[in-house]
Amino acid sequence: MASVQRAATYVEKGGVGKTTSAAHIAVAAHNMGHKVLLVDLAGTQNDLATHFGISIVDEETTTDGGVSIDAPISAVFGDDWEFLRDNIDDLLDRMTFATDEGPDLIPADPGLGGADNNLANVPLEERYQKLDGFVEDLVANQYDLVVFDLPGKEDNIALNGLFAARNVVAPLKPGAFERDQLQKLDATLEEISSDLDVDLDIALVIPTIISSQETLSESFVEYVTEEYPEIVGEPVTKTADIGNNQNNGRTLFAVPDDELYATGKRAREAYSTNTEQLLSQLTDR
Ligand SMILES: Nc1ncnc2c1ncn2[C@@H]1O[C@H](COP(=O)(O)OP(=O)(O)OP(=O)(O)O)[C@@H](O)[C@H]1O
Ligand SMILES: [Mg+2]
Repeated sequence: MASVQRAATYVEKGGVGKTTSAAHIAVAAHNMGHKVLLVDLAGTQNDLATHFGISIVDEETTTDGGVSIDAPISAVFGDDWEFLRDNIDDLLDRMTFATDEGPDLIPADPGLGGADNNLANVPLEERYQKLDGFVEDLVANQYDLVVFDLPGKEDNIALNGLFAARNVVAPLKPGAFERDQLQKLDATLEEISSDLDVDLDIALVIPTIISSQETLSESFVEYVTEEYPEIVGEPVTKTADIGNNQNNGRTLFAVPDDELYATGKRAREAYSTNTEQLLSQLTDR
Protein backbone atom coordinates (compact mmCIF):
# COMPACT_ATOMS: atom_id res chain seq x y z
CA MET A 1 0.00 0.00 0.00
CA ALA A 2 1.24 3.46 -0.82
CA SER A 3 2.06 5.54 2.20
CA VAL A 4 3.62 8.90 2.82
CA GLN A 5 5.13 10.31 5.99
CA ARG A 6 3.65 13.64 7.03
CA ALA A 7 4.76 16.55 9.18
CA ALA A 8 3.74 20.17 9.68
CA THR A 9 5.69 23.08 11.09
CA TYR A 10 3.35 24.76 13.52
CA VAL A 11 3.35 27.03 16.54
CA GLU A 12 0.76 29.69 17.23
CA LYS A 13 3.37 32.35 16.96
CA GLY A 14 4.98 34.33 14.16
CA GLY A 15 8.64 34.62 13.29
CA VAL A 16 9.92 31.57 15.18
CA GLY A 17 11.40 29.70 12.20
CA LYS A 18 8.46 27.63 10.90
CA THR A 19 9.12 28.38 7.24
CA THR A 20 12.89 28.12 7.59
CA SER A 21 12.54 24.76 9.33
CA ALA A 22 10.07 23.41 6.75
CA ALA A 23 12.44 24.31 3.90
CA HIS A 24 15.58 22.95 5.54
CA ILE A 25 13.94 19.71 6.70
CA ALA A 26 12.53 19.13 3.22
CA VAL A 27 15.92 19.56 1.55
CA ALA A 28 17.73 17.47 4.18
CA ALA A 29 15.20 14.65 3.69
CA HIS A 30 15.66 14.89 -0.07
CA ASN A 31 19.42 14.64 0.38
CA MET A 32 18.84 11.48 2.42
CA GLY A 33 17.12 9.93 -0.57
CA HIS A 34 13.45 10.69 0.05
CA LYS A 35 10.98 12.06 -2.46
CA VAL A 36 9.65 15.16 -0.75
CA LEU A 37 6.71 17.49 -1.31
CA LEU A 38 6.56 20.85 0.45
CA VAL A 39 3.18 22.54 0.77
CA ASP A 40 2.95 26.22 1.67
CA LEU A 41 -0.28 26.93 3.52
CA ALA A 42 1.12 29.94 5.34
CA GLY A 43 1.79 32.37 2.54
CA THR A 44 3.46 35.06 4.60
CA GLN A 45 6.22 37.30 3.30
CA ASN A 46 8.97 34.77 3.82
CA ASP A 47 7.12 32.24 1.75
CA LEU A 48 8.52 28.98 0.52
CA ALA A 49 8.53 29.98 -3.14
CA THR A 50 10.79 32.94 -2.35
CA HIS A 51 12.93 30.68 -0.16
CA PHE A 52 13.66 28.57 -3.27
CA GLY A 53 14.07 31.48 -5.64
CA ILE A 54 10.76 30.89 -7.41
CA SER A 55 9.02 34.12 -8.29
CA ILE A 56 5.24 33.71 -8.45
CA VAL A 57 3.38 36.28 -10.52
CA ASP A 58 -0.30 36.84 -11.29
CA GLU A 59 -0.14 36.93 -15.04
CA GLU A 60 0.78 34.27 -17.55
CA THR A 61 3.00 36.66 -19.49
CA THR A 62 5.66 38.51 -17.59
CA THR A 63 8.91 40.19 -18.34
CA ASP A 64 10.87 39.14 -15.26
CA GLY A 65 10.75 35.39 -15.78
CA GLY A 66 8.29 34.66 -12.99
CA VAL A 67 5.90 31.73 -13.06
CA SER A 68 2.16 31.81 -12.48
CA ILE A 69 0.06 29.36 -10.51
CA ASP A 70 -1.96 27.07 -12.76
CA ALA A 71 -3.75 24.93 -10.17
CA PRO A 72 -3.78 26.53 -6.69
CA ILE A 73 -3.69 24.59 -3.41
CA SER A 74 -6.72 26.59 -2.24
CA ALA A 75 -8.83 24.61 -4.74
CA VAL A 76 -8.49 21.61 -2.41
CA PHE A 77 -10.77 23.46 0.04
CA GLY A 78 -13.34 24.55 -2.55
CA ASP A 79 -16.70 23.18 -3.76
CA ASP A 80 -15.33 22.08 -7.14
CA TRP A 81 -12.49 20.01 -5.72
CA GLU A 82 -14.00 16.55 -6.32
CA PHE A 83 -14.80 17.52 -9.90
CA LEU A 84 -11.26 18.78 -10.55
CA ARG A 85 -9.68 15.74 -8.92
CA ASP A 86 -11.78 13.34 -10.98
CA ASN A 87 -11.42 15.14 -14.31
CA ILE A 88 -7.88 16.48 -14.54
CA ASP A 89 -5.35 13.69 -14.99
CA ASP A 90 -2.19 15.66 -14.28
CA LEU A 91 -3.66 17.77 -11.48
CA LEU A 92 -0.86 17.20 -8.93
CA ASP A 93 1.75 17.94 -11.62
CA ARG A 94 0.01 21.18 -12.38
CA MET A 95 -0.03 22.16 -8.71
CA THR A 96 3.65 21.50 -8.06
CA PHE A 97 6.86 23.30 -8.98
CA ALA A 98 10.29 21.67 -8.94
CA THR A 99 12.83 23.47 -6.76
CA ASP A 100 16.56 23.60 -7.54
CA GLU A 101 17.30 21.73 -4.32
CA GLY A 102 15.23 18.61 -4.87
CA PRO A 103 11.87 18.84 -3.11
CA ASP A 104 8.78 19.70 -5.12
CA LEU A 105 6.79 22.68 -3.91
CA ILE A 106 3.14 23.66 -3.90
CA PRO A 107 3.29 27.41 -3.27
CA ALA A 108 0.82 29.43 -1.25
CA ASP A 109 -1.79 31.23 -3.30
CA PRO A 110 -3.92 34.30 -2.61
CA GLY A 111 -7.06 32.13 -2.46
CA LEU A 112 -6.10 30.66 0.92
CA GLY A 113 -7.64 33.55 2.86
CA GLY A 114 -11.00 33.07 1.15
CA ALA A 115 -10.72 29.31 1.55
CA ASP A 116 -10.32 29.76 5.30
CA ASN A 117 -13.57 31.78 5.40
CA ASN A 118 -15.47 29.35 3.18
CA LEU A 119 -14.48 26.40 5.34
CA ALA A 120 -16.49 27.95 8.18
CA ASN A 121 -19.63 27.10 6.16
CA VAL A 122 -18.61 23.50 5.51
CA PRO A 123 -20.30 20.94 7.80
CA LEU A 124 -18.08 20.09 10.77
CA GLU A 125 -17.64 16.44 9.83
CA GLU A 126 -15.98 17.49 6.55
CA ARG A 127 -14.39 20.81 7.46
CA TYR A 128 -10.98 19.65 8.64
CA GLN A 129 -10.56 16.58 6.41
CA LYS A 130 -10.16 18.31 3.03
CA LEU A 131 -6.38 18.41 2.97
CA ASP A 132 -6.11 14.89 4.34
CA GLY A 133 -8.27 13.70 1.44
CA PHE A 134 -5.96 15.48 -1.00
CA VAL A 135 -2.94 13.71 0.52
CA GLU A 136 -4.65 10.33 0.38
CA ASP A 137 -5.97 10.78 -3.16
CA LEU A 138 -3.05 12.43 -4.94
CA VAL A 139 0.09 12.69 -2.80
CA ALA A 140 0.40 9.36 -0.98
CA ASN A 141 1.48 7.26 -3.94
CA GLN A 142 3.86 9.89 -5.36
CA TYR A 143 5.97 11.01 -2.38
CA ASP A 144 7.75 9.59 0.69
CA LEU A 145 7.34 12.70 2.81
CA VAL A 146 5.03 15.70 2.73
CA VAL A 147 5.86 18.77 4.83
CA PHE A 148 3.27 21.49 5.43
CA ASP A 149 4.24 25.00 6.42
CA LEU A 150 1.26 26.25 8.44
CA PRO A 151 0.05 29.70 9.45
CA GLY A 152 1.03 30.84 12.95
CA LYS A 153 -2.61 30.91 14.03
CA GLU A 154 -5.33 28.35 14.60
CA ASP A 155 -7.49 28.97 11.53
CA ASN A 156 -9.36 26.41 9.41
CA ILE A 157 -6.39 26.01 7.07
CA ALA A 158 -4.02 25.28 9.97
CA LEU A 159 -6.50 22.77 11.39
CA ASN A 160 -6.65 21.04 8.00
CA GLY A 161 -2.85 20.94 8.01
CA LEU A 162 -2.67 19.51 11.51
CA PHE A 163 -5.30 16.89 10.71
CA ALA A 164 -3.50 15.88 7.51
CA ALA A 165 -0.04 15.87 9.07
CA ARG A 166 -0.72 14.36 12.53
CA ASN A 167 2.90 15.15 13.43
CA VAL A 168 3.94 18.63 14.47
CA VAL A 169 7.41 20.11 14.22
CA ALA A 170 7.51 23.04 16.64
CA PRO A 171 10.35 25.51 16.17
CA LEU A 172 10.72 27.91 19.09
CA LYS A 173 13.11 30.74 19.67
CA PRO A 174 14.18 32.00 23.08
CA GLY A 175 12.03 34.69 24.59
CA ALA A 176 9.92 35.52 27.59
CA PHE A 177 6.76 33.84 26.33
CA GLU A 178 8.19 30.81 24.61
CA ARG A 179 7.80 28.50 27.58
CA ASP A 180 4.10 29.24 27.75
CA GLN A 181 3.95 28.76 24.02
CA LEU A 182 5.03 25.15 24.25
CA GLN A 183 2.50 24.35 26.98
CA LYS A 184 -0.15 26.12 24.97
CA LEU A 185 0.74 24.04 21.91
CA ASP A 186 0.43 20.85 23.94
CA ALA A 187 -2.98 21.92 25.20
CA THR A 188 -4.11 22.98 21.71
CA LEU A 189 -3.07 19.67 20.17
CA GLU A 190 -4.85 17.74 22.92
CA GLU A 191 -8.01 19.74 22.37
CA ILE A 192 -7.89 19.31 18.60
CA SER A 193 -7.12 15.60 18.94
CA SER A 194 -10.26 15.02 20.95
CA ASP A 195 -12.42 17.37 18.83
CA LEU A 196 -11.33 15.83 15.54
CA ASP A 197 -10.86 12.32 16.88
CA VAL A 198 -7.27 12.03 15.68
CA ASP A 199 -3.99 11.54 17.44
CA LEU A 200 -1.94 14.72 17.02
CA ASP A 201 1.50 14.83 18.55
CA ILE A 202 4.57 16.99 18.66
CA ALA A 203 7.18 14.91 16.86
CA LEU A 204 10.04 17.36 17.24
CA VAL A 205 10.72 20.58 19.14
CA ILE A 206 13.50 22.64 17.60
CA PRO A 207 15.10 25.40 19.63
CA THR A 208 15.96 27.92 16.90
CA ILE A 209 17.93 31.12 16.57
CA ILE A 210 20.14 30.01 19.48
CA SER A 211 23.24 31.99 20.34
CA SER A 212 25.87 30.66 22.73
CA GLN A 213 26.58 34.27 23.69
CA GLU A 214 23.10 34.85 25.07
CA THR A 215 22.21 33.49 28.53
CA LEU A 216 18.53 33.49 27.58
CA SER A 217 19.40 31.07 24.78
CA GLU A 218 21.22 28.70 27.10
CA SER A 219 18.51 28.56 29.73
CA PHE A 220 15.85 28.17 27.05
CA VAL A 221 17.58 25.14 25.55
CA GLU A 222 17.97 23.66 29.04
CA TYR A 223 14.29 24.18 29.75
CA VAL A 224 13.12 22.57 26.51
CA THR A 225 15.49 19.65 26.97
CA GLU A 226 14.19 18.99 30.48
CA GLU A 227 10.54 19.33 29.53
CA TYR A 228 10.69 17.35 26.28
CA PRO A 229 13.67 15.00 26.56
CA GLU A 230 12.30 12.55 23.98
CA ILE A 231 11.43 14.99 21.23
CA VAL A 232 13.84 17.89 21.61
CA GLY A 233 16.04 18.37 18.57
CA GLU A 234 19.49 19.80 18.06
CA PRO A 235 19.40 23.57 18.70
CA VAL A 236 19.76 25.59 15.49
CA THR A 237 22.43 28.25 15.79
CA LYS A 238 21.59 31.87 15.15
CA THR A 239 23.29 32.83 11.91
CA ALA A 240 23.11 35.62 9.36
CA ASP A 241 23.64 32.94 6.71
CA ILE A 242 20.00 31.85 6.96
CA GLY A 243 18.39 35.21 6.15
CA ASN A 244 21.03 36.16 3.60
CA ASN A 245 20.56 32.97 1.64
CA GLN A 246 16.77 33.05 1.91
CA ASN A 247 16.98 36.40 0.17
CA ASN A 248 19.03 34.69 -2.54
CA GLY A 249 16.49 31.92 -2.90
CA ARG A 250 18.33 29.02 -1.34
CA THR A 251 18.70 27.04 1.87
CA LEU A 252 22.01 26.47 3.66
CA PHE A 253 22.24 23.12 1.89
CA ALA A 254 22.76 24.84 -1.46
CA VAL A 255 25.61 27.04 -0.22
CA PRO A 256 29.25 26.00 -0.71
CA ASP A 257 31.18 25.59 2.56
CA ASP A 258 33.54 28.46 1.86
CA GLU A 259 30.61 30.88 1.61
CA LEU A 260 29.29 30.01 5.07
CA TYR A 261 30.21 31.31 8.51
CA ALA A 262 30.95 28.72 11.20
CA THR A 263 27.47 29.49 12.57
CA GLY A 264 25.91 28.71 9.20
CA LYS A 265 27.64 25.35 9.03
CA ARG A 266 26.47 24.54 12.55
CA ALA A 267 22.89 25.48 11.70
CA ARG A 268 23.01 23.32 8.58
CA GLU A 269 24.38 20.39 10.57
CA ALA A 270 21.61 20.83 13.15
CA TYR A 271 18.94 20.68 10.45
CA SER A 272 20.45 17.44 9.11
CA THR A 273 20.46 15.88 12.58
CA ASN A 274 16.92 17.11 13.26
CA THR A 275 15.66 15.68 9.99
CA GLU A 276 17.13 12.26 10.80
CA GLN A 277 15.51 12.41 14.23
CA LEU A 278 12.17 13.46 12.73
CA LEU A 279 12.18 10.71 10.12
CA SER A 280 12.92 8.02 12.69
CA GLN A 281 10.22 9.47 14.96
CA LEU A 282 7.69 9.33 12.10
CA THR A 283 8.60 5.75 11.23
CA ASP A 284 8.21 4.67 14.87
CA ARG A 285 4.69 6.00 15.20
N1 LIG B 1 18.81 30.07 12.75
C1 LIG B 1 18.51 31.31 12.40
N2 LIG B 1 19.38 32.32 12.60
C2 LIG B 1 19.08 33.59 12.26
N3 LIG B 1 17.90 33.96 11.73
C3 LIG B 1 16.99 33.01 11.51
C4 LIG B 1 17.22 31.64 11.83
N4 LIG B 1 16.12 30.93 11.51
C5 LIG B 1 15.23 31.81 11.01
N5 LIG B 1 15.74 33.06 10.99
C6 LIG B 1 15.09 34.30 10.53
O1 LIG B 1 14.00 34.58 11.41
C7 LIG B 1 12.91 35.13 10.68
C8 LIG B 1 11.67 34.28 10.93
O2 LIG B 1 11.87 32.99 10.37
P1 LIG B 1 10.68 32.26 9.59
O3 LIG B 1 10.16 33.13 8.51
O4 LIG B 1 11.17 30.90 9.24
O5 LIG B 1 9.62 32.17 10.78
P2 LIG B 1 8.05 31.79 10.69
O6 LIG B 1 7.73 31.16 11.99
O7 LIG B 1 7.79 31.01 9.46
O8 LIG B 1 7.41 33.23 10.58
P3 LIG B 1 5.91 33.61 10.12
O9 LIG B 1 5.06 33.31 11.33
O10 LIG B 1 6.01 35.06 9.82
O11 LIG B 1 5.57 32.76 8.95
C9 LIG B 1 13.33 35.15 9.21
O12 LIG B 1 13.77 36.43 8.91
C10 LIG B 1 14.50 34.16 9.14
O13 LIG B 1 15.43 34.53 8.16
MG1 LIG C 1 6.48 31.37 7.90
